[in-house]
Amino acid sequence: MPKLKVIAFDGTEFDLEAESGSTVMENAIKNAVPGIEAECGGACACATCHVYVDPAWSEKVGQPDVMEEDMLDFAYETKPNSRLSCQIKMSDELDGLIVRVPEQQA
Ligand code: FES
Repeated sequence: MPKLKVIAFDGTEFDLEAESGSTVMENAIKNAVPGIEAECGGACACATCHVYVDPAWSEKVGQPDVMEEDMLDFAYETKPNSRLSCQIKMSDELDGLIVRVPEQQA
């Protein structure tokens, strides 16, 4: 199973085993990572699952599609490496992925 590291705003690291096909958001929620609210349940309609992708992973994770980009406008303090974690699907390609949770969600 691909590994996923989610770093909360206070620096707490969550080292997770993420099933291929599951989203980063689903894994964060399952493990009660603080700061990931996911109010819309993964429908790309709330921006409360916003994360910063570790720069080393940005290229592999790729860019948000148009719908996600529109939704990111509602997220708090977006950066060039901002993504909605419900739109990132885990796979063997992303084994070792690191994301950080912003200080607060929208
Ligand atoms: Fe709502 Fe990701 S969970 S946009």
